[in-house]
Amino acid sequence: MTLEEKVGQLTQWRGEWSDTGPRVAEGGEEEIRAGKVGSFLGVYGAAYTRELQRVAVEESRLGVPLLFAHDVIHGFRTTFPMPLAEAASFNPELVERAARIGAIEGAAHGLHWTFAPMVDLSRDPRWGRIVEGSGEDPYLGSVMAAARVRGFQGDDLAAPDTLLATAKHFAAYGGAEGGRDYNTVDVSERTLHEIYLPPFRAAVEAGAGSVMAAFNEVAGIPMHAHEHLIEDVLRGAWGWDGVLVSDYTGILEMVAHGFSPSRVDAGIAALRAGVDVDMVSNIYLEDVPAAVRDGRLAEGIVDEAVRRVLRAKARLGLFDDPYRYSDPAREAAVTLTPEHRAASRELARQSIVLLKNEGGALPLRKDLGTLAVIGPLADQPRIVLGGWTAAGRAEDAVSVLEGLRRAVGPDTRVLHEAGAEIEGADTSGFASAVAAAEQADAVVLVLGEHHDMSSEAHNRTTLDLPGVQRQLAERVHAAGKPTVAVLLNGRPLSVGWLDENVPAILETWFLGVEMGPAVADVLFGDVSPSGKLPVTFPRNVGQIPIYYNHKSTGRPPDPDNKYTSKYIDVPWTPLYPFGHGLSYTTFEYGEPSVDRATIPVDGEVTVSVTVKNTGPRPGTEVVQLYLRDDFASVTRPVKELRGFQRVPLAPGEAKTVTFTLGPDDLAFYGQDMQRVVEPGTFTVFVGGSSAEAKRAGFTVE
Ligand code: BGC
Repeated sequence: MTLEEKVGQLTQWRGEWSDTGPRVAEGGEEEIRAGKVGSFLGVYGAAYTRELQRVAVEESRLGVPLLFAHDVIHGFRTTFPMPLAEAASFNPELVERAARIGAIEGAAHGLHWTFAPMVDLSRDPRWGRIVEGSGEDPYLGSVMAAARVRGFQGDDLAAPDTLLATAKHFAAYGGAEGGRDYNTVDVSERTLHEIYLPPFRAAVEAGAGSVMAAFNEVAGIPMHAHEHLIEDVLRGAWGWDGVLVSDYTGILEMVAHGFSPSRVDAGIAALRAGVDVDMVSNIYLEDVPAAVRDGRLAEGIVDEAVRRVLRAKARLGLFDDPYRYSDPAREAAVTLTPEHRAASRELARQSIVLLKNEGGALPLRKDLGTLAVIGPLADQPRIVLGGWTAAGRAEDAVSVLEGLRRAVGPDTRVLHEAGAEIEGADTSGFASAVAAAEQADAVVLVLGEHHDMSSEAHNRTTLDLPGVQRQLAERVHAAGKPTVAVLLNGRPLSVGWLDENVPAILETWFLGVEMGPAVADVLFGDVSPSGKLPVTFPRNVGQIPIYYNHKSTGRPPDPDNKYTSKYIDVPWTPLYPFGHGLSYTTFEYGEPSVDRATIPVDGEVTVSVTVKNTGPRPGTEVVQLYLRDDFASVTRPVKELRGFQRVPLAPGEAKTVTFTLGPDDLAFYGQDMQRVVEPGTFTVFVGGSSAEAKRAGFTVE
């Protein structure tokens, strides 16, 4: 391989959108022939990728097959709930299945590589990309990260229906100061290892073949040059040997960071740190060869990166059959099938969180005379898909309004008024919205954010309902009809007014192609809601950062003691805690018990608890187990999630649920940053949210 051919393998070009779908830029075929392309971003289509692959294999000197990469985040053509919503299902099996379907569809369209799962945790809902991850918790985040990797990659990466998965963005991207995307991250080594890194480790242990570097710096070092975290931790301590891809122009951005004086310096720093693929900066291709020739960079470092890229191509089976993924017949057969839509609807139902339900306001009856569906988010087929939709299309999606219309009985009249825009100050639609409410037997307010208000670079400084939606809600509510609220949003919203005034609130996020039917399934009670919040909902933006696994402090909040850690204007507690979510039935927890009161440092303890459905309907409870190390040489969080189980229960039925905790669950990073289980007492909390839990305890000797 010539040096030019080597850096060609490390170079990722981007596709462009055309009337006939994604295409390579003009002259792209010539670059392939010249061996200057290792992979493409955003180029797919079975016939088209076949043709490009033919050029690479038959017309370039070495005939190395291309990789086609794309952001298949929550489905390819069959769009699933946004990842944050999927996490609310607490159902890793269904989340794995969603990723599997994304891979089946994407691979049939010629793709080999997805830039997912996004495993960044965030404690800051101002950050728009919180919607792309699994929320605030390292345990839940790790379970979901592993599930998605298994789903994308299947059992055998060489099978033609799998995608190479990418855990991104390494690392601590969700810790951006002020919730401002791309901003500086400065976290302690402890927080990095305890909070931000575990989902990456879980993804790597699940076999993720790829990792993407993050745009941000961590404590002064841009992640695209972070030799310690990439070489010592990821490749060293964790023993990972996959392909590390830069983020979009991430290598070049080290100049703007004030880290690399020039393009070539940035390229050298990135290669030295172990960044194998240059996504669209074209620095490896254009600037690195001269640096190798004049001795500034050892060619061996380039060779290592090339080896990793070629190994990925081999793992995908491309040297055996470069065309195996690009199959027009399979493309037609597996895209947006009824079975895939059904899987999306099932996960969408389970991702819905019932935040509040006073006096059994929900479910609604299907035989109401008149139902008014009011709000700017009701009739929005595109928005229900959320951001990052790969090949998803608005015309495939069912809006909330359409879903409700399809579900009601033949004698029910459905009225709809948007009432207001999503953003902006126009109140001219209020009067007709109120008039519709006045004619109705029940009102569903469909409120929230445009999907474009979260995702990359879409950060907010307030978590309030945008525009005049709250005023719209007040006016409609004043009509005095039974009113419930359905929220669409990509982040926690501070909806205190709704919480105080509206009897029932459903958090429905952005749920994908089958959003409307899934919302109707839950709203009308065909299915009881079973989702739980994967992230804390603050009362207002000033409480950020607020998360359940915080420390105790020396002065824990005490309402009777002024000099404790709280606010003078709002309570210190969240609006809705992590893990919260109601059902149409009720669950009663018995007292948890442990099988052994005392265990050795390497021992295990089993916690049992009986959960009973004490209400009138079938339902599924997500039973959650949290743990606290009461006293340790390094202070520990007040509680940390260590297990959960979805437990379906018929009315009157009771089941005993058990969790086994071992050294991995009890350990933490000691003062020397080594994992340790320390003797002492531990408290176990079991319940239906992080705030409501019954306790048991045991001692480690
Ligand atoms: C995002 C990545 C994404 C890449 C390619 C970047 O702007 O940060 O998450 O994979 O674009 O689309």
